[in-house]
Amino acid sequence: MKSLRSSEWYSGDDRNAYIHRAWMRRGLPGDFHHRPQIAIANTASDLTPCNSHLDEVAQSVKNGIYEAGGIPLELPVVSLGETQVRPTAMLWRNMAAMATEEMLRANPIDGVVLLGGCDKTIPALLMAAASVDIPAVVVPGGPMITGHFRGEALGCGTDVWRLSEEVRAGELSEQLFLRSESAMIRSRGHCNTMGTASTMALVAEALGTVLPGLAGTPAPDSRLLEGAQETGRLAVQLVAQDRRPSTVLTRASFHNAIVALAAIGGSTNAVVHLLAIAGRLGINLTVDDFDRIGAEVPLLVNLQPAGRYLMDDLYRAGGFHAVLREVRDLLDPDALTITGKPLVDYLDDAKIWDADVITPREQPLLPAAGISVLRGSLAPGGAIIKPAAASPHLLKHRGQAVVFDSIEDFHARIDDPELDIDENSVMILRGCGPMGYPGMPEVSNMPLPKKLLEQGVRDMVRICDGRMSGTAYGTVILHVTPEAAAGGPLARVHTGDWINLDVRNRRLDVEVPADEMEARGVNEATVKGFANPRRGWERLYVDHVMQADTGADLDFLVGSSGSKVSRESH
Ligand code: FES
Repeated sequence: MKSLRSSEWYSGDDRNAYIHRAWMRRGLPGDFHHRPQIAIANTASDLTPCNSHLDEVAQSVKNGIYEAGGIPLELPVVSLGETQVRPTAMLWRNMAAMATEEMLRANPIDGVVLLGGCDKTIPALLMAAASVDIPAVVVPGGPMITGHFRGEALGCGTDVWRLSEEVRAGELSEQLFLRSESAMIRSRGHCNTMGTASTMALVAEALGTVLPGLAGTPAPDSRLLEGAQETGRLAVQLVAQDRRPSTVLTRASFHNAIVALAAIGGSTNAVVHLLAIAGRLGINLTVDDFDRIGAEVPLLVNLQPAGRYLMDDLYRAGGFHAVLREVRDLLDPDALTITGKPLVDYLDDAKIWDADVITPREQPLLPAAGISVLRGSLAPGGAIIKPAAASPHLLKHRGQAVVFDSIEDFHARIDDPELDIDENSVMILRGCGPMGYPGMPEVSNMPLPKKLLEQGVRDMVRICDGRMSGTAYGTVILHVTPEAAAGGPLARVHTGDWINLDVRNRRLDVEVPADEMEARGVNEATVKGFANPRRGWERLYVDHVMQADTGADLDFLVGSSGSKVSRESH
């Protein structure tokens, strides 16, 4: 067996080995330094409410590691609470990934169990593990169970958008809206819609990085702790077998992740996260792969925001494997999971128990559900749309732009009765890309003008260089590349310009001659207004962040640095 990485710290009779061992003893078994050292990268935090239960999960992981003869070492890592962190958790995803990567590399660790849940935490942990390339396995913290208000299920996030629009449309009183607040979050766990957290948990399993069958287990379900303990045991085996991210995560795994993403109707945010993870592994995944592999995959999961049900319904109805079994022929049979067996080998016993939640392949909710990549004079580097969450009648649309230079400009003017806008207008919000905001926030699903809501309008074409919450819906074109702050055409579009959207032909154009667009000046103050940090992480981020089409990672973090540390500390 290959010697343990941690033996570079612990083996030998010299002073440095003495120091490394002596300070770590603290009641550990006398032979601790001969055993696999398994970190538990734990994103538990009271400020990340979706992950606040992960200390209990960590305890089960620890039990499993001990059972298998390893030494569990809890490693608290940067945690990101999607609803709390300003200006947007996405600004800090790369920081969390970088800090975790560095701590995994700097310490005497042989393998790691990654505990995540809320949106950015699993992507950041996988980016980190891919860069250090030590054996790693994910335990997704699981979704919360369904809350109800006045007899109706409440979908986290999705129903906040829906109810707040109803208030603005005058269909719901503010008092009732506020009363629903205490019913929204019923238990521990992350959002229970098919938002980004649910999506990334399932996609992490489709990638092969989760104990098969564990993703989607609700956070309060005792089977989560059982799975966490088994994962702890598995982590020790991974070290013995030297099964590292670079041996599990292949092009075939990303293929499966994209198929799964479409079949579950997953969040558009998975695009930037998967591109970033692939970038850390040197896998040449492009945004067009999502269209090529996923566009024709049927939608089989009837979950909010595109559908009706919530994550514990999916679990009850047969779970993720029942979905994957329906699209088994589209999966790459060579893609391995963390256990060493192919993903497709785990699907034989899967069964649909409620065909209203998971529809059979012959009766899909939509025949083609994947993400479409648009290109054209408004988005030369690409933009994406999730047709499953859009209004079919708007997928081909021509309308005049109403341009907002920032989210603050949007809020200041959107409900102005004098705003010249109707249901055929195309709302454009710029300055929200990775560099421009900075951090690429989830603001692309702009609320509609109050006066149009009152007329019964419920969807309009919206275009933005930012992201959209995975819990949101609507005809929203997002991740426009290059973003306005990077000099993209979005910076030069004017209110009144005609915009042409044609999803079937994958086009997004502005009807302004190229030379006229080029000649138009850019108002730097409005387009770049907020992206001028002088110090700290924001400075580093703005100077080095890449565009959405490559995953919005930092340019110097692409690729793997491996686990080697060549110099001693003393
Ligand atoms: Fe954490 Fe939605 S806020 S998953």
